Amino acid sequence: MEKEKLPRHVAIILDGNGRWAKKRLLPRQAGHYQGGQNLVTIAQYANQVGIKMLTVYAFSTENWKRPKEEVDYLMTKPAQMIMENIEKFKKSDIKILIQGRKDRIPEKLLNAIRLLEDVTKDHQGMVLNICFDYGSYDELLTAFKAVKEFTVEEVYKNLMVKEPVDLLIRTSGELRISNFLLWQIAYAEFYFTKKHWPEFTKKEFNKAMKSYAKRNRRFGGLKQ
Ligand code: IPE
Ligand code: IPE
Ligand code: MG
Repeated sequence: MEKEKLPRHVAIILDGNGRWAKKRLLPRQAGHYQGGQNLVTIAQYANQVGIKMLTVYAFSTENWKRPKEEVDYLMTKPAQMIMENIEKFKKSDIKILIQGRKDRIPEKLLNAIRLLEDVTKDHQGMVLNICFDYGSYDELLTAFKAVKEFTVEEVYKNLMVKEPVDLLIRTSGELRISNFLLWQIAYAEFYFTKKHWPEFTKKEFNKAMKSYAKRNRRFGGLKQ
């Protein structure tokens, strides 16, 4: 892959875990489990190819509306998955940050998150933002309350995700943003695929990178 045509900041809406499971006659939870495993694989791969920042949408401020059983799984299983993969992340050079509200998630998960952030805090490789109980309206309202001077730079400084997105990927065929990074995608390129998140492989990731490399980003100017 040509390094100069690689996006610096990639964002992914990890969608389709439920549909992936349904297709296989499995419970939705099985889809979330595979989705979690796939996140570990794709994050390591993105770091390896030279992506500087990867921001993924794992649980939205709206996802609390789902059945209790599913919400409970999503609030407990990640803690276990973090503990299972902690050595892997300690050894890698990925720096992990969990972005979103911290006042509604169970303590056990909060502790696992804090540990994960702590063991990766000095890492110099890719920054992985995992958006969990994240909503862009929530992020923006919090930032707007904190800014003293309203400039684009000042707003960015007060956001959770502090860099503009170059490429936004959404899996599973839905053509919407669902309250993700509204400010940061102002000039992003979009890539939509019908593949469900658990089947979004390294090969699929490469396809997205190739599509991005062909885009002509003009930022309001004229074609180069
Ligand atoms: C994405 O998969 C994961 C979360 C939103 C937690 P979904 O759970 O939305 O899967 P579908 O869209 O129902 O297939
Ligand atoms: C968006 O997916 C949120 C995450 C991927 C975490 P949803 O599946 O919740 O989005 P909608 O409800 O289809 O818009
Ligand atoms: Mg969905």
